[in-house]
Amino acid sequence: MSTPNEPAKPSASAGSAAASLSQVTIATPAEHDGDEPSEDTISSRGRKAKRAKETKQQELEKDGIGPTGRPYREIPDPPPLDRHGPALVMAMCNQKGGVGKTTSTINLGAALAECGRRVLLVDFDPQGALSVGLGIQPHELDQTVYNVIMERSVSITDVIRKTRVDGVDLLPSNIDLSAAEVQLVAEVGREHTLLRVLRPVMNDYDYVLVDCQPSLGLLTVNALTAADGVIIPLECEFFSLRGVALLIDTIEKVQERLNPKLDITGILATMYDPRTLHSKEVMARVVEAFGDTVFDTVINRTVRFPETTVAGEPITTWAPKSAGAAAYRALAREVIAR
Ligand SMILES: Nc1ncnc2c1ncn2[C@@H]1O[C@H](COP(=O)(O)OP(=O)(O)O)[C@@H](O)[C@H]1O
Ligand SMILES: [Mg+2]
Repeated sequence: MSTPNEPAKPSASAGSAAASLSQVTIATPAEHDGDEPSEDTISSRGRKAKRAKETKQQELEKDGIGPTGRPYREIPDPPPLDRHGPALVMAMCNQKGGVGKTTSTINLGAALAECGRRVLLVDFDPQGALSVGLGIQPHELDQTVYNVIMERSVSITDVIRKTRVDGVDLLPSNIDLSAAEVQLVAEVGREHTLLRVLRPVMNDYDYVLVDCQPSLGLLTVNALTAADGVIIPLECEFFSLRGVALLIDTIEKVQERLNPKLDITGILATMYDPRTLHSKEVMARVVEAFGDTVFDTVINRTVRFPETTVAGEPITTWAPKSAGAAAYRALAREVIAR
């Protein structure tokens, strides 16, 4: 860990970063536990304090200091592509639910597509939230990723569907997938199943983003075995730090035993609230522990994201000028540059 006077350095290994996280303590409790307080619940004193904090953040932004407390890194423009593939596979992974995995999969995918990348989104959660977020009713599907991984006669190309977003395709899922966790246990090469079924389409895409379920079970291990990189969405809230050590331990085991090329692409801070000291403190601890692995892009907490789920489309098309859309575009540039 760096001392307060030193700039945060990237940790020697993710393992040591994870170990240091178990010592993390946060002074301030969360100032609120859900959505933004509505204007009429904020007293006038509160409003003044809120404005002062916002102004301070704006001043920092003018000096090029981002919410991570570091200067923004120079990110080159994404180079245009004259051909597509082979795809980089990214697992969006965190065994905690509600941290923004699905939201980030949809919106990063859409933003990568805006950069001219061909993207396949894989719904690898039996809840099917990724499919719903793209306007598809999972219970109405005849065939899903479940059929592709369990039935040799079903080809992935039969089940992949186009979405309303240009350049973004979906391999949907529904509750059937929950049976796969149990059924796969008896299979030969059970951890490599997803990797095997993705192979025929790898040259059609530039990125395959796998939206993992909130557990570290066999489905998630399959996603990590197929992946080149892991993106860890991390909610800016104290308890979210606790589980990360276990997640990194799992990633390291998969790296050693199943997939030596696996790498942590980046840690994405989500649900950040610039008005709370708590968010800032969590952010500072995350940067201290993981250094440059933390993306400069930070996703603020805003009701616009739940709204997009209802709309069944990414924020980049639903509210293209919003701060949330801009954030996921910035993330796409960082991911392409890494
Ligand atoms: N930045 C954000 N601000 C506010 N709400 C968000 C944000 N990102 C996601 N949400 C909402 O939080 C809930 C959980 O997000 P989701 O992406 O489904 O998490 P996960 O896939 O990790 O369970 C959803 O209702 C989603 O709309
Ligand atoms: Mg999800």
